[in-house]
Amino acid sequence: MATIIRDPLVEDNIVELDIVTEADRSDIRRRYEAGQLILLRGFRYDLDFKFLDSLCFDVDGPPEFLRKLKKYGGDKIAQLCPESANPLDQFVFAAVFQADAGRLAYYQDQVASGNAQCDALYTSIFPDYRTTKSLYTWRFTSTKYENLHWDNFGIPETFHQVRIFTNIAKSPRLWMTSHHIGHYAESIYDQYDLGALRGRIGDDLNRHVNTVALGGMKAPCMDRLPRHHLAFEQGDVWLCETRIVCHQIYHGEKAFAAMYFSDPASMERPELGFDALIEELHARHLPAHSANSPVTAPA
Ligand SMILES: [Fe+2]
Repeated sequence: MATIIRDPLVEDNIVELDIVTEADRSDIRRRYEAGQLILLRGFRYDLDFKFLDSLCFDVDGPPEFLRKLKKYGGDKIAQLCPESANPLDQFVFAAVFQADAGRLAYYQDQVASGNAQCDALYTSIFPDYRTTKSLYTWRFTSTKYENLHWDNFGIPETFHQVRIFTNIAKSPRLWMTSHHIGHYAESIYDQYDLGALRGRIGDDLNRHVNTVALGGMKAPCMDRLPRHHLAFEQGDVWLCETRIVCHQIYHGEKAFAAMYFSDPASMERPELGFDALIEELHARHLPAHSANSPVTAPA
């Protein structure tokens, strides 16, 4: 089970919950919508973790292949066939699977099984969500020292997102998390003229806050925000809305993450959806902003 060190300077938005009864599932759903990070107690996928962790995607090779290898998860792996003429496919088959078709087929079975188990978990917790799309990422290249950030996807449509993660590697996956976007944006609203983003999608606000308030890529890890520390063990499963919960991967080797898009109107409390929160934030600041502050374009 994960090690969690909570910083008292950040709201305690991490909970460890059982998932056994209907009441448990309802509690998970309620807390997820409220913007908490939920670690499932006593739940793990039935996967061959030892085999999966034996695969090495951190291989040497041409830089153009290695760049693409980071995103070579999910669908691409599922469709990889040993006879493919695609040079990247050939590289992955040789470098990662040692040109062993049996090893590749077993990996593909594991990926399909993980995706299906995650679908079943999602449906059991959020049975009434009107789901429009699901994406699965098997990220087997290592990650370290991400910036603290709130996700933005560059998708103009309003949607509700459920993200479900699991650590596949034996080594702990180290995350840090910080404030709820609503709380933090409220605290810096005037300082960083967030009112200039009124009327735009919430993604734009997250991108702006990541850049101007946390320093963005120009000042990696120099944000100075307090944060909770989490070390997820192999097999741990956790959920959070990554546009709402500020997070960074400090170190991780192999993970599986699924992302489910749904209609925010099908949430139990649609007013807690990401874009609704941001709209409400702007609405709360409307009178003061329009009376006192010039509107300028974001940096
Ligand atoms: Fe992220």
